[in-house]
Amino acid sequence: MMKEKPLLSILADGEWHSGEDLAQALGVSRTAVWKQLNRLMEQGVGVERLRGKGYRLTDRIDLLDAERIVTQLPDRHRQALHLDVFDTIDSTNAYLMQGADLPGKLVRACLADRQEQGRGRRGRPWSSPPGENVYLSMALRLQGGFAALEGLSLVVGVAVARALESLGLERAALKWPNDVLVDNRKLAGILIELQGELEGAAGVIIGIGINTHMSDRDQAIDQPWISLDGAAPDVEWHRNDVVAAVIRETLDVLDSFEGSGFAAWRDQWQSRDAFFGQRLRTEPDGDEGLGAGIDASGAYLLDIDGRHKPLRAGELSLRRRV
Ligand code: BTN
Repeated sequence: MMKEKPLLSILADGEWHSGEDLAQALGVSRTAVWKQLNRLMEQGVGVERLRGKGYRLTDRIDLLDAERIVTQLPDRHRQALHLDVFDTIDSTNAYLMQGADLPGKLVRACLADRQEQGRGRRGRPWSSPPGENVYLSMALRLQGGFAALEGLSLVVGVAVARALESLGLERAALKWPNDVLVDNRKLAGILIELQGELEGAAGVIIGIGINTHMSDRDQAIDQPWISLDGAAPDVEWHRNDVVAAVIRETLDVLDSFEGSGFAAWRDQWQSRDAFFGQRLRTEPDGDEGLGAGIDASGAYLLDIDGRHKPLRAGELSLRRRV
């Protein structure tokens, strides 16, 4: 789709554009425009043609655009950030894992329209169809080394919830450690991978997948899920706005986390706890009890007959008992 991208960007506003205007804007002949339109249609893009008006897209299209993301960021983040945007990639996390620090940049970020091998937690795949969702990763260094990372995955969940709420989503709940849920269905997932320690700073890769426009017909996924379009249908969701808000909130939250640790964010997490007071079972251990929130270190507390058992292991999973 690379070659037709400038044309698609113009048509993305959903308005009519004459062949002549398109040719002029792209600096090519009208025949070339016509050929590009045909190629887009061959790739499944719906284009409508009307004599006297020109061309317009039949469906809404939500293109990723680095410029539109970066210009929404505050200066301090824009200057610190290097952002790569790909049409197709194996996994945005894998891409950043392979790279090294960039001189003058504190955060390397990578975004893709689709992933061929999107990775989820616990070795599961992450469904990553083209054009539908946000697949974003950020690589950065946090002071204090690995020892200071306790609670990191929880604060990132808070950042994603806050970002989506700032754009009009109500009711973002967090399932320990950091799944973002709406109506008990998974909206977003976070995969944090560690890269190594350098001069007392831990290299972390934060991968965030947010179901945005994905609809039922698209994917078979082995757990209940929802997308932003379904969770807040009154909001017109644009992936560039979602990405900008998520980068902004994540970097702000991490600044504070690096300075004052997890404790300052505990209330923010607790107020969104999807499992508080729920009857739960751990897997694979099979402990049963009531959800009782998190302790100051970020461990989840399971109330077993009035006694709080902290759950720590990152690989442990909590299920609602039915
Ligand atoms: C989960 O299992 O809940 C975590 C899902 C994380 C998915 C995101 S999409 C962007 C980044 N790249 C990946 O391969 N995975 C993460």
